[in-house]
Amino acid sequence: MAEKKYGHFDDANREYVITDPKTPWPWINYLGNEDFFSLISNTAGGYSFYKDAKFRRITRYRYNGVPMDNGGRYFYIKDGDTVWNPGWKPCKTPLDSYECRHGMNYTRITGSKNGVEASVLFFVPLHTWAEVQKMTLKNQTEEAKTLKVFSFAEWCLWNAATDMENFQRNFSTGEVEVEGSTIYHKTEYRERRNHYAFYTVNTEIQGYDTDRESFIGLYNEFAEPEAVMEGKPRNSFAHGWSPIASHYIEVTLQPGESRDLIFLLGYVENEQDKKFSAKKVINKEKAHQLIAKFDTTEKVDAAFAELNQYWDNLLNIFTVKSGNDKLDRMVNIWNQYQCMITFCMSRSASFFESGIGRGMGFRDSNQDLVGFVHQIPTRARQRIIDIASTQFPDGGCYHQYQPLTKRGNNDIGGGFNDDPCWLIFGTVAYIKETGDFSILAEQVPFDNQPGTEVSLFEHLKISMNHVINNLGPHKLPLIGRADWNDCLNLNCFSWDPNESFQTTENKGEGSKAESLMIAGLFVVTGKDYVALCKQLAKEALESKEGEIAGLAEEDYLTEAERMQQAVDEMNEAVKQHGWDGEWFLRAYDFFGNKIGSDENEEGKIFIESQGWCTMAGIGLEEGLCDKALDSSKKRLECEHGLVLNNPAYTTYHVEMGEISSYPEGYKENAGIFCHNNPWVIIGETVAGRGNDAWSHYTKILPSYVEEKYQTLHKVEPYVNCQMVAGKDAAKPGEGKNSWLTGTAAWMWYTVSEFILGIKPDYEGLLIDPCLPSTAKEYEVTRKFRGGEYHITVKNPSGNQKGVKQITVDGTPISGTIIPCSEGKHEVVVEM
Ligand code: GLC
Ligand code: GLC
Repeated sequence: MAEKKYGHFDDANREYVITDPKTPWPWINYLGNEDFFSLISNTAGGYSFYKDAKFRRITRYRYNGVPMDNGGRYFYIKDGDTVWNPGWKPCKTPLDSYECRHGMNYTRITGSKNGVEASVLFFVPLHTWAEVQKMTLKNQTEEAKTLKVFSFAEWCLWNAATDMENFQRNFSTGEVEVEGSTIYHKTEYRERRNHYAFYTVNTEIQGYDTDRESFIGLYNEFAEPEAVMEGKPRNSFAHGWSPIASHYIEVTLQPGESRDLIFLLGYVENEQDKKFSAKKVINKEKAHQLIAKFDTTEKVDAAFAELNQYWDNLLNIFTVKSGNDKLDRMVNIWNQYQCMITFCMSRSASFFESGIGRGMGFRDSNQDLVGFVHQIPTRARQRIIDIASTQFPDGGCYHQYQPLTKRGNNDIGGGFNDDPCWLIFGTVAYIKETGDFSILAEQVPFDNQPGTEVSLFEHLKISMNHVINNLGPHKLPLIGRADWNDCLNLNCFSWDPNESFQTTENKGEGSKAESLMIAGLFVVTGKDYVALCKQLAKEALESKEGEIAGLAEEDYLTEAERMQQAVDEMNEAVKQHGWDGEWFLRAYDFFGNKIGSDENEEGKIFIESQGWCTMAGIGLEEGLCDKALDSSKKRLECEHGLVLNNPAYTTYHVEMGEISSYPEGYKENAGIFCHNNPWVIIGETVAGRGNDAWSHYTKILPSYVEEKYQTLHKVEPYVNCQMVAGKDAAKPGEGKNSWLTGTAAWMWYTVSEFILGIKPDYEGLLIDPCLPSTAKEYEVTRKFRGGEYHITVKNPSGNQKGVKQITVDGTPISGTIIPCSEGKHEVVVEM
């Protein structure tokens, strides 16, 4: 039996086309890339928010609904007795045709029924605080059609958390205004809020509703709103309860005629002294201006063309032509797109992340940078400063911050000892891409406290120092609350289910819990830091002022030496106390016992330390890396990728924390945590094992396993998900937590810099591919610091690694770095 298919890639249009609305899970897309964001599923479910999914939620969404994905922007079309939606839901009236095209920051959903086609294009125009919904209605019959069209959006009372819990207040606060075809949501505007939202349409309306109960009916569902079923709006006015916005429009279409209706869901902020135009009447000036920008088909089409142009430009910075569609479409389109989304959202808002749980993660956001920095470096620059501003003077940092306030999140606090290293990781990536050393001179505060500013370079230095100052008995880094693995909680010892594994530390001083993952991370970022200092010394020498971040040449060199020594010591400590014989240990626990050792019954081997210690090249010459990589293949690999640890924990270990709370094969307990697979892949490239790197890479590359997504993984086949259930799971292969995962940036970093081997460096583009022996030739076009490089890599004898010769514009260069220069350049690389 052929497996069912729910959709396919359309590379020419950079779209994924969904042809059956009953996907195995809602397959979503993201609209907006700056301030105003929307999530939209293939049946038009989802919600919108301004900047912060928790504090500035514009429309309401019900997580964990039954059925799944309940609520969204719905259009009801009543044609005689038939009521249907272009996106099938919520009425689920069988459609004559259905298609959803998810593209770059837009989604187009088209349905048809009884000779009427309704196609709705959803997007957030550039630099705009609004979502456009352009509906095109077409009469494909020989007779005139009179349709009753109802729109529907449900307002969230701004704070998405209290919106779901504080009903004794919420049911009394809702307020709206209606003016012409525009419904305004002004709840809490009377007091401290200076923002409101609106929903409008560019035509006269024949009625409206703003009160949910009047529109839907207390005992009805979204699928059968009373007003729609009866074909009669109530012209209701919300006072408290649940304010909504629904337009009612009567449309008559002659045979063959089509008509556009443009809906706009917008957000406005007013200055404090300009909030009202009369007592209790909101100042609508800015709303009017916004509405006027998108009130005709021509204006909307122009804005849409601009959005497409924007994406053309972004995606043209790095393109590959390999003759392998599956690789090309991920590199050229979807992987880069997912990187932009994770950069914007961090881990806040998806169909798995509720938008109220977490803000921006310190480590997550730094990692997301490497997937994004080549696209819009100026935004990456700001992000680095924002992140560093939440650091503490001792180098520790808030684990998360809220995007709206940019303040560190006190609920979670700090104490994750890997966090500081990631600041170096992100900053170095930024400088290598842009050559902008001036960022290091930026004055950046601690914990956002004015008056505490020091240079960003100083922040990097104290980040390194934080590791050095927190070493354990084996001179390996103390883990703190956890390292990258949030669930390896070695100082928690929790027996109370109401406690958080992440924030509880029940054991006092004297912990011996050390992390080999941080050790590897420290060596990788420490080497980066040393190279940065040396580069700074050079820059200081060359620049007339003689300094960049306040130091002179010799100071940078002294600093480089100091850190090189710390890196060397860490290297030794890992070899002495972190090697288990066939692979790297994972950690020492509170008492100093080994974790991730062959001596252990379960959890004998972990992926994180194999990844980071091989990326760091620890023991490369002695063959330790090869051994660790072989052991990973032997013990961690399964048909869907590499699991996190093996064997899975079968019981709760109080001394290990959350990791052992998950059933076998899920999440951090031996799931395939896709985020960390690229670490091993990069490790493979460091060891020059291109075939193994490729094999691991393609196992979790969405386009390679598209078929699996349709049936087994279930989540969106065009992006990576955070986790696929591992070999020890009850249902191996099920995917979860799609979209918002460090996997996006790591997959990008891996393929662009380590497999295809185009690596930004201080002086130019470093070329160092690591390929499967089947790869004989490919081309990459890379825009970099004002130049455009068309690079052809030739590998006729199928080598896995090693560049023989590079010519730039016909002239051989020495070494493997293409020096920066403006204009277009032809580069030929021979392996
Ligand atoms: C989640 C977190 C990330 C963490 C990972 C492993 O993806 O966002 O910070 O490193 O889980 O626990
Ligand atoms: C849970 C998840 C982990 C995440 C953490 C913090 O422990 O398993 O992936 O990073 O929560 O939110």
